[in-house]
Amino acid sequence: MNGEAVIPVERIMTSLIVSNLTCEYRTNPLGIDVPQPRLSWQLHSDQRGAYQTAYRILAAPSETNLNSGRDLFWDSDKVETDQSIHVVYDGPKLVSGQRVYWKVRIWDEAGMEIESSSAWWEMGLLERSDWQAQWVGADFYGGPRTSSPAPYLRKEFTLQKELVAARLYATAIGLYECHLNGLRVGDALLTPGWTDYSRRIQYQVYDVTELLNPGPNALGAILGDGWGVGHIAWVGRQRYADRPLFLAQIILSFSDGRKEIISTDASWKVTSGPILESDMLMGESYDARRELTDWCNPGYNDSSWRGAEIFADNGARLVATNGPVVKRQEELQPVNIREISDLVNRRWIFDLGQNMVGWVRLRVHGEKGTTVGLRYAEVLNPDGTLYTANLRTARNTDYYTLKGGEEEIWEPHFLFHGFRYVELLGFPGSPTEETVTGIVIHSDIPSTGSFACSDPLINQLQHNIVWGQKGNFVDVPTDCPQRDERLGWMGDAQVFSRAAMFNMNVAGFFTKWIHDMEDAQYPDGSYAAVAPNPSAWANGDGGPAWADAGVICPWMIYQGYGDVRLLETHYSSMQRFIAFLSATSRDGLRCYEEYTGWHGFGDWLALDGSDGRQGGTSKELIGTAFFVYSSHLLARIARILGKEQDAGQYDKLSMQVREAFIKKFVLPDGTIKGATQTSYVLALQFGLLPQDFRSKAVAELVRNIGQRDNHLSTGFVGTPYINWVLSEAGHLDTAYALLKQTSWPAWLYPVTQGATTIWERWDGWTHDKGFQDPDMNSFNHYAYGTIGAWMYAVIGGIDLDPQQPAYKHILLHPQPGGGLTHARTELHSLYGLIRSEWTLQKDTFDWQFTVPANTTATVYVPAGDLSRIIENGRSVTEALGITFLQLENGCAIFTVRSGSYSFSSQLG
Ligand code: BGC
Repeated sequence: MNGEAVIPVERIMTSLIVSNLTCEYRTNPLGIDVPQPRLSWQLHSDQRGAYQTAYRILAAPSETNLNSGRDLFWDSDKVETDQSIHVVYDGPKLVSGQRVYWKVRIWDEAGMEIESSSAWWEMGLLERSDWQAQWVGADFYGGPRTSSPAPYLRKEFTLQKELVAARLYATAIGLYECHLNGLRVGDALLTPGWTDYSRRIQYQVYDVTELLNPGPNALGAILGDGWGVGHIAWVGRQRYADRPLFLAQIILSFSDGRKEIISTDASWKVTSGPILESDMLMGESYDARRELTDWCNPGYNDSSWRGAEIFADNGARLVATNGPVVKRQEELQPVNIREISDLVNRRWIFDLGQNMVGWVRLRVHGEKGTTVGLRYAEVLNPDGTLYTANLRTARNTDYYTLKGGEEEIWEPHFLFHGFRYVELLGFPGSPTEETVTGIVIHSDIPSTGSFACSDPLINQLQHNIVWGQKGNFVDVPTDCPQRDERLGWMGDAQVFSRAAMFNMNVAGFFTKWIHDMEDAQYPDGSYAAVAPNPSAWANGDGGPAWADAGVICPWMIYQGYGDVRLLETHYSSMQRFIAFLSATSRDGLRCYEEYTGWHGFGDWLALDGSDGRQGGTSKELIGTAFFVYSSHLLARIARILGKEQDAGQYDKLSMQVREAFIKKFVLPDGTIKGATQTSYVLALQFGLLPQDFRSKAVAELVRNIGQRDNHLSTGFVGTPYINWVLSEAGHLDTAYALLKQTSWPAWLYPVTQGATTIWERWDGWTHDKGFQDPDMNSFNHYAYGTIGAWMYAVIGGIDLDPQQPAYKHILLHPQPGGGLTHARTELHSLYGLIRSEWTLQKDTFDWQFTVPANTTATVYVPAGDLSRIIENGRSVTEALGITFLQLENGCAIFTVRSGSYSFSSQLG
């Protein structure tokens, strides 16, 4: 496959299957608006050396046609290639609403032909003219900057003919939840998701065929304020509209071939109901006495409802949701209930045992009109009460007023809270463990990875990283889920993206959000600091490491998922950004002292600075280092896109800026001005130093860490790279010492304090000082979880080969250390499951790993020489599928074909 010599592989009979067919990263997706969607599949085999030599894709208008082979509208013919991901549909032009059934036949390395079962995708509404619907909303609203009850909208219609299919296309400025004939449509939450609603609004598509009945039907919607109308961060309310607006249509297809569209228009009715207020930051107030029983069933008497208002279209593009939607994911039961009543109030605090994001389901029985308050918080004060100072202006409190009678079960709508503890006020009677259930929500991104090792503290760290990701991947990658912020901070997402790709499949999530970044780009080419950008950050340029996400994130997603189209799509945006950096730098230096623009956030929250926030590393140094890196990445991107001339120019630019960096910051003795950990880390990671200065820089970094007794002095900017730089420079022991450090500043310190998510600050709470500054003290901030990528790759041993993205070729290189005796890592790549599990006992290193079919790997087996390695009980030289390359740095290096392997080597 890759031209390297390998030992021929014996294949007795094929056991290959072709499965996991996806279109644009999704299985059987409804609503694709990419004109030429990309198709992927996986090969699975329990034998070594399985790979694809050719494929043939067939597409048809129905499953019957696909199976019979009649009326196929696309036949790719046999294409000789091992490409099995992102194959571009190349059949006739697809039209709105078109459903395509497809399957793939592949030929394996022995020439055997294997066929997949069928899959499908369905196109969304591709033209604005496909929409007949008009924007509707309520005429009641409290006026600028106030909140109003949630509008309930409804419309009845009659089916007189035999229905074949029905699709609901829906969206909102604000949030919507659709109901049809008394049932909730779909399970997506917080729809239509957050974009810059003035430019681009996502719609969702639902197959509602089964929800409709012959005769009368009722379609309804409840609207919430959400990101479009409610509070966003410290910015206030109503950034995009002064009230929530709804746009929807059902396209009915009948057996006689005709179609009918039921759409939002002036014939809809609207009223208010039990949701008196629902705001993401403030919470919900719900009065069950005002419930509208049967409001979404046909025959309901809506004579007291008013006519819906029609609102002008704001000109934003309507786009299909191609990324994952938010869904409920799991439920948590309280691990503890404590009463903290005083003479005036009865109060209980429930501990869900996990800092989580979502809300609670309340079960309550009591008198009509009783109001129960639910206050949410992440941590407790030393006296056991809720610590809410770090929520800033976010009220994070829900109120439920009982209707009385039977037991009542309630969940809030249109919001999420970040919390571990919930306090109940005014609860009638005494609550039990059943009173409260935690509902965990996040973007529906499948878990793809797992990591575990012999150190329980590191395992808890991994747990905290994963929960940090769950809680902050809620439609956009937020910095934190609890205080009045929750913005798509670009620096945070950039530093965490590599770790994020291990834990979950974030390809679709980032594809959507990278679009948000481009939408938030300013005319001068600068990227904002947050995306979507609700003008929260008025300075324009997001500054070093934050704005650079505009280049780094597409690059990361390309690395993890081989997505060239993403690079193509955003190439000109990245070019504009680099042009902006060139125009606003002086002699190659970004953020030079006299620069009147934004100098950035520095090495955010590093503890080696004077203000406790921006760290001790010069902003000019950070800015210039990232300028080298981003222009270097753009050169690589240009080359991938076949733009050699551009690539040459960006390489040249990158080299020039690097020269400027050296001239300004590297002293003749090889030390770096300022000599912070982050300055050495960036210089080494981004290749900024002349070759003969590197060892000096490494020595200085190691010395600095030693002087701090193996503690970090890095912030958001230096932390992502520090362990990589150390392990790559041969200082694995120092990297492990940093990882295993339990006193602050270090990754494991919060773990020792009972953390269940990653903290924003190294010293969010300490024995000596108590809580850090409440203005900036989140206990669920994923940025420092970036170490997870190093844990997967260096401890677990699964890493990318940058030359062959998406793990087409894998680097398997576990590097035991830190006293660990065992590690197990799994990653579901686009090609299938990669697995690595090792045990170190005395001097024996046992290692089992799996390389998915249609991929290869370079494998580093710790051993002094070949005679000390056996594979599956045999000398490694006799093993199938393995080619020895060389001995290097205490490792025997092999290339292997796909399959499962079991190595054992003697280290001593
Ligand atoms: C956020 C950060 C963000 C930062 C910019 C904070 O308020 O919580 O995580 O990157 O601002 O410095």
